[in-house]
Amino acid sequence: MSAPIKALIALDDGLDRDSIQRFLPPNAEIEFVATVEGLEESWTTLQETAPDLVLVGCSGYSDRALFFIDGAVKQRSDRPVVVLCEGSPNGFVRRVFEVGADDIVTLPETPEHISFTLQKALARKQGAAFATGVALAPMICILGPKGGTGKTLTSCNLGVALAQKGHRVAIVDLDLQFGDVGLSLGLTPERTLYDLAKSGGSLDADKVDGYLTGHSSGVRVLLAPTRPDQATTITVEFLRDVYTALRSTHDYLIVDTAPGFTPEVIASVDSSSDICVVGMLDSLSLKNTKLGLETLELMGYSKDRIRLLLNRADSRVGIASDEVAAILGRNPDITVPSDRDIPRSVNEGTPIVVAADRSEAAKAFRSLAELYVNVSKDGAKKNGRVGLLRRRG
Ligand SMILES: Nc1ncnc2c1ncn2[C@@H]1O[C@H](COP(=O)(O)OP(=O)(O)OP(=O)(O)O)[C@@H](O)[C@H]1O
Ligand SMILES: [Mg+2]
Repeated sequence: MSAPIKALIALDDGLDRDSIQRFLPPNAEIEFVATVEGLEESWTTLQETAPDLVLVGCSGYSDRALFFIDGAVKQRSDRPVVVLCEGSPNGFVRRVFEVGADDIVTLPETPEHISFTLQKALARKQGAAFATGVALAPMICILGPKGGTGKTLTSCNLGVALAQKGHRVAIVDLDLQFGDVGLSLGLTPERTLYDLAKSGGSLDADKVDGYLTGHSSGVRVLLAPTRPDQATTITVEFLRDVYTALRSTHDYLIVDTAPGFTPEVIASVDSSSDICVVGMLDSLSLKNTKLGLETLELMGYSKDRIRLLLNRADSRVGIASDEVAAILGRNPDITVPSDRDIPRSVNEGTPIVVAADRSEAAKAFRSLAELYVNVSKDGAKKNGRVGLLRRRG
């Protein structure tokens, strides 16, 4: 077994050792080297103990805590800082990320969840991809700040392209009110996320498996609720458990999202190992894409885990590719042309990588899949996880 993570707990005024104790995970993977009351005292202990991770506890909005986090991050940017805060005071979450913290947990929260958050923060900093002691498959979150940019198209075609390469792929349709992954893949919803959430009891991989709908390509989908009112049943905590279960039994998990940064989308971004931002080639969409990229940066998401896909990239809208790069601050990794076969393939429930596998659009989605295969191989080599990347057959 690897050495435990050494964590220092720094408590702001208003929190003491006893009040924080019940939230702390008792597992052997995290060793709390010191719990210090008062942030000034904590600063001294921080220099003396050299922990792997700093946990900052505060009871509400605290400039002292922000100052402390800022100092800790500047001192060692490779050491994760996670904040535990009672409630979620206005504006504090944003400030916490701005000063460089890796994550924030609002209390009360279970020790298991806090343990998961700490391990994830450390894993992210180390570029590792483990979260609960076992290696977890890559989780790719498909994002687009605006509706209709091609997120669902990308989720389905990326999923099928990865499955065609022999990987075990799960897709979660997180467009909880108007999810249409099922329609795009021609699937009939018999069991959905809603049914799983309503089933009660603990979630394990076997149970989640029973709620997946299979596609002929091998992709397995956890479909969105069939009615918009069912969306409220899906909590952020439930989603985290679902993701962990699916990542332990598949090679890739793809999450198709609704437009914007809803709480579920933020939680999914937070759990994910990779992001694919889907933008379109018009000035409004580019502006929103830029805002989306900036938001991810504020959340502390590493730039090299974000891929940018520009959809309908051949549209004659008078924006040249160097202008795109100037607006977005980066070049797209993949461009997908407009293709009249795409709406038809969506209507027929057959993804374009199957319906017209020689089309430029299909090639673009296969290239996107290739990018993730390569990233995953690199990550696996780095972490000695090659044996855990399962292949079908
Ligand atoms: N490259 C393209 N060429 C032609 N049609 C496209 C292309 N990309 C997307 N479309 C069409 O645009 C529509 C919207 O695409 P899609 O559903 O994937 O977007 P979305 O981002 O998931 O939307 P929402 O935010 O509503 O979930 C679809 O009906 C699809 O057929
Ligand atoms: Mg969609």
